[in-house]
Amino acid sequence: MTDFASLLVPDRGQQARPIHLVDKDSFAAWLKKRPAEDRALLEAQRFDGKTAYAFAILPRGNEFEVVSAVKNAAELSPWCLAALAGKLPEGTYKLAHGQPGKAALGWLLAQHRFDAYRSKKDDSERGPRILVSGEPARIEATVRLAQATALVRDLVNTPAADLGPAELEAAAAGLANRTGAQLNVIGGEELAVGYPLIAAVGAAATPERAPRLIELEWGKPEDPRVAIVGKGVCFDSGGLDLKNASGMRIMKKDMGGAAHALALAQLVIENRLPVRLHLVIPAVENAVSGASYRPGDIVRSRKGLFVEIDNTDAEGRLILADALAKAAEGQPELIVDFATLTGAARVALGPDLPATFVNRDDLAGELEAAAREAEDPIWRMPLWDPYDEQLKSDVADLSNTSGNAMAGAVYAALFLRRFVPSDIPWAHLDTWAWRDSAKPGRPKGGEALGLRAVWAFLEGRYLQG
Ligand code: BES
Ligand code: ZN
Ligand code: ZN
Repeated sequence: MTDFASLLVPDRGQQARPIHLVDKDSFAAWLKKRPAEDRALLEAQRFDGKTAYAFAILPRGNEFEVVSAVKNAAELSPWCLAALAGKLPEGTYKLAHGQPGKAALGWLLAQHRFDAYRSKKDDSERGPRILVSGEPARIEATVRLAQATALVRDLVNTPAADLGPAELEAAAAGLANRTGAQLNVIGGEELAVGYPLIAAVGAAATPERAPRLIELEWGKPEDPRVAIVGKGVCFDSGGLDLKNASGMRIMKKDMGGAAHALALAQLVIENRLPVRLHLVIPAVENAVSGASYRPGDIVRSRKGLFVEIDNTDAEGRLILADALAKAAEGQPELIVDFATLTGAARVALGPDLPATFVNRDDLAGELEAAAREAEDPIWRMPLWDPYDEQLKSDVADLSNTSGNAMAGAVYAALFLRRFVPSDIPWAHLDTWAWRDSAKPGRPKGGEALGLRAVWAFLEGRYLQG
C-alpha cells in the first residue's frame, strides 16, 4: 500500500515549492501583487484562476512555484488538492498561505493506486509530499483515514476469485494480529446451527469458499459497547434467482459493506477510541450449485423467526439478519451496519449518496451533521412502518422481499429492523461502495462511501466527548 505517512510531512522549515491557492474571487487581487513576469507566464498558460482544479507553473531558476485554482480558497474541501497531487512531480511542496487541513486527505488518496494486477507498476512511492504544521496527531489521524479508505478500495477492487470468505477472514485476522484484538470465526456445523441464514446463503459455494461469521472484539470491557456489522457477500451471482450479465458484472463489490466495517474497526482501534468494539462480518459467496438454497425454502433464523425465501438474490438481508441478531445479543449502545444491499438505493439517491436508515431521530441528526462536517454525504430514508406488513409470508413469519417493485431499499431496511431490538440505537447504511466514473482523488472502482461520515460521528461522540 502507498506509504501515506511519507507524503504528509511535518513542517520543520524544509525547502519546499510554494503552492498558491486562488479562487475566482481572490485571483484578481492576488495577481496584482505578483511580478509582471508571473502575469505573463500565467497568461501564456491560459490560467485564469476560475477553472477549479486547473494549475500553472511559475519557474524560479531551476525550481518552480505552483498556482492552483480551487472552488473556495478560504475553506478547503477534502478533494481540492487531489487533481494537483495526482499531477505534480516528486518533491516537497507547501501551501504559500495556511494549511492543507481537510485537503490533506485528497492529497494522499490521489496518490493511491490499485495496481496489484498491472504488470507495469506506477512508481507511487515517489509522489509529491506536502508540509503541514500543527499537531503531529492530526497528521497521523489523516494518514489513518487515507489508509482506511484505501483498504476499502483495495478490498472491493480485488476480484472475487482472489477475495472469498477466507480472504475476508484473513483481512480481519491481520487487523487482529496487528492490534491485539480478539478474532473469532464460526463455520461448519456451528454456523449451520447458530447462524442458519448465513449457512443457507453460503451453502452453494465450494468448500474453500465456505460461509463463515467473522467476529472481532477489542477494547476495555467497561467502555461503551459499539457493534459494527458489514455485508460480506464476496460474489453475488443472485443464487438460483440468477442475475443477468450486466447485473452480475460488478458483484465482486458485494462485500463492500464488510470492507467499510473492517476499515471503520481499523480506525476505531488505531485511534484508540474508548469503546468496546464488536465487529461482525457474515462472509459468504452467493453461488449456484445443487446445494443452493431455493426460492420457497424456509429457514429458521438465529433470532427464531422463520424466513421464507422469496428471492435468493435478496441474500444480503438474510446474512445480516443473523449477524445483527448476534450483535444485538451483546446489548451494545449502538449498532451500525454497512451493506451494498439494494439496487433500489441507487435508483433513489444515485451512487454517491448512501441511503441511511436510523431508528432514532437524534442519532440520525448527529450522523447527518458528522457527514456534512466530513464532506462524506449520506441521506436519511424512512423506516416506513406502514410498509412493514408487506414482508408477510403465506407460510412463515416473514418473507425476504415485499414482492413488489417499489421502495426496495425501504423494504430491505424494514426486513433488517425485524432483527434489531427497538431499544438499541441502530443505523443502516445502504452504500454503493463503488464509483462509476473517476473524480480527482477518487478513481473509478471500489470506494468508501459513508465511512468518513460514521467515523466522524464516532470520533465526535467518543473521542472528544
Ligand atoms: N447486492 C445486491 C444489491 C445491489 C445490486 C447492489 C446492484 C449494488 C448494485 C443485492 O443482493 C440484490 O441483489 N438485491 C436485489 C433485491 C431484490 C431481489 C429484492 C435488488 O436490489 O434488486
Ligand atoms: Zn443479491
Ligand atoms: Zn447482494
